[in-house]
Amino acid sequence: MAISFDEKSKRFHLTAGDSSYVMEIVEGGFLAHLYWGKRIRRATFCRPPERVDRPFSPNPPGFGRDFSLDTLPQEYPAYGRTDFRAPAYQVRLENGSTVTDLRYCGHRISHGKPKLPGLPATYVERDDEAETLEIELTDPVCGLKAVLFYTAFSRLNAFARSVRFVNEGREPLVLLRAMSASVDFRDAGFDWLHLSGTWANERQIVRRPLAPGGQSVESRRGASSHQHNPFIALLRQNTDEDAGEVYGFSLVYSGNFWAGVEVDPYDCARVLIGLNPFDFAWRLDPGESFQTPEAVLVYSDEGLGGMSRTYHWLYRSRLCRGPWRDRERPILVNNWEATYFDFDEDKLVRLAEKAADLGIELFVLDDGWFGQRDDDTRSLGDWYPNPRKLPNGLSGLAGRIAALGLRFGIWVEPEMVSEDSDLYRRHPDWCLHVPGRGRSTGRSQLVLDLSREDVREYVVRAISDLLSSAPIDYVKWDMNRHMTEIGSAALGPERQRETAHRYMLGLYAVLEELTVRFPHVLFESCSGGGGRFDPGMLYYMPQTWTSDNTDAVCRVKIQYGTSLVYPAVAMGAHVSAVPNHQVGRTTPLRTRGDVACSGNLGYELDLTALSDEACAEIRRQTSFYRDIRRLVQFGDLYRLISPFSGDGNEAAWMYVSEDRSESVVFYFRFLARPNPPRPAIRLKGLDPLADYLVREIPNGRAEPVFGGDELMHAGLPVPERALFGDFQSAVWLLFRQN
Ligand code: DGJ
Repeated sequence: MAISFDEKSKRFHLTAGDSSYVMEIVEGGFLAHLYWGKRIRRATFCRPPERVDRPFSPNPPGFGRDFSLDTLPQEYPAYGRTDFRAPAYQVRLENGSTVTDLRYCGHRISHGKPKLPGLPATYVERDDEAETLEIELTDPVCGLKAVLFYTAFSRLNAFARSVRFVNEGREPLVLLRAMSASVDFRDAGFDWLHLSGTWANERQIVRRPLAPGGQSVESRRGASSHQHNPFIALLRQNTDEDAGEVYGFSLVYSGNFWAGVEVDPYDCARVLIGLNPFDFAWRLDPGESFQTPEAVLVYSDEGLGGMSRTYHWLYRSRLCRGPWRDRERPILVNNWEATYFDFDEDKLVRLAEKAADLGIELFVLDDGWFGQRDDDTRSLGDWYPNPRKLPNGLSGLAGRIAALGLRFGIWVEPEMVSEDSDLYRRHPDWCLHVPGRGRSTGRSQLVLDLSREDVREYVVRAISDLLSSAPIDYVKWDMNRHMTEIGSAALGPERQRETAHRYMLGLYAVLEELTVRFPHVLFESCSGGGGRFDPGMLYYMPQTWTSDNTDAVCRVKIQYGTSLVYPAVAMGAHVSAVPNHQVGRTTPLRTRGDVACSGNLGYELDLTALSDEACAEIRRQTSFYRDIRRLVQFGDLYRLISPFSGDGNEAAWMYVSEDRSESVVFYFRFLARPNPPRPAIRLKGLDPLADYLVREIPNGRAEPVFGGDELMHAGLPVPERALFGDFQSAVWLLFRQN
């Protein structure tokens, strides 16, 4: 049994993989948190909550002076009943008060994992993969019920949590705050880590010690955002990549979120993650319910690497869905940086011809093929081909691409409308806006109001017609601005603050419909690069364009940071031209290839303008990638050298097959040093008792055999070649010999 309840001690003990989570129903029916960490055999001796009479920590009615919610570690804390820390939820009653009091009233344990209505979530394929505990808490005064869901995955150190609120009373309630998970750690001896950045510099690793009071990251932008990823982790101060405890919190959501930690005066850390309460309110009429998004909590005592591998497996295999989930992804060429808006059918076909010759498998037509779109100021919403650029329509172009032996894919940005578009002229009230205020534009565009059913129906119809109009195998689904004037013409005044979340539910409904209608299509999500690289989008689209920044040096850091939570198969990684269009840097083609081969490989440059030597190098890269892509896309990732540590001049990672028989190792070094030291990279994840043949790519003639133990403890020497000149890389393939 992964989940048990002991009637006598009133304790729940949940075990997931090698981890345990313990709760207790304490006096008065409050649900206390006792433990989360390394698996323990029994929950019997888990330290009970202390009872201490603390000055300025008041006592709920009927309790002694040594009982205060202010000092009780809780599972889903309320506001206004003696706990002064940040609450997990808050509800406004019809009488204007915001004080509620949830107490235990029952629970249910079942096999498997229920679906989350209308929301993306992890899932199981067989009921024995997980067990789920539902704990019901009620407040009889106002009729509020909260059902806390805990799914324990049997083979992974992972718990999925969410909450369903139900109004069982007679009067309307308004949810003002509804976190997906709350954990009261019983000490605060941690660092906290988050993934933050900007457009073109997403998911940079930030790690700092917890300090008294609050610390948080959030998005108020209507998308999970480039600025902060919906993920935080607590790490013991001595935790590193390979050892020590880590607690990861990842939210399966693509909109406004909040994730943070409050360290209280008694050195306890409360972690909360969920929908951003800022500008959020949700009216619950009697009988109505509200489901929060899911938070996925991962425990690792094998450092950050252990945490990442758990997230990778779970998100790759039990979050992503559809026929493409387990299939090797095609090598693509995207015409964006090759042509921007300046193309016609013949130019595209010339690019595709060259791509086919170089071993590329999928041609992606990016922005600019529709309406009057010759720049980014117009035509979003008018999803029909521009006859001047594509005189034979999409099917004509797709036919010519197919004749070259390539699959065909297309870019769309269906959530948006340009002011200068037929769609906007027909439906000016279909975008997010508020009465009496002008509409702020971003990249000259407005956001369609997907909280509206008629708008959703239009988007599904327009994109379905498009995908039925030609043999389209791939879609890049872009989203290029954040939300302002968030309001909906279709909602009453009392529901305006529901708009941002209703938008996300609407987007998820559209994506569900389209991915079910077109299961063969490989969808890649994008938001100005990696502005919506989150688990919510991965549920519908199994890969994401990692960043608009394709510079190899920046990409090492971006991909390294992204890999903390997300698997390589989800990361679109392209080789682009030099000087790089985002930062102006010139790096060797080989290094650009090695960085991109570490993710989901693509090319995004004018292939027709390359020298013979460059073409030969690309042919080598595509052929090499075909050999290693199963390993990269579905193997276990071990990070070896962090570009975020030391002087940041090096990075390395490797992928190992599940049976440890094969591995590919990547090493990157940025600036050359005179008379440099000769480093050796200590590998990980190999079988210490096996011998491995080591082939350096591309030129390795000598193929020495080393013990797995030698490679992991003594290390693999970096070749002299990779130490000379700026922006160098080295790659090795390892094959087990016995
Ligand atoms: C932003 C994307 O991230 C780019 O790759 C490209 O598709 C442009 N949009 C097109 O407008």
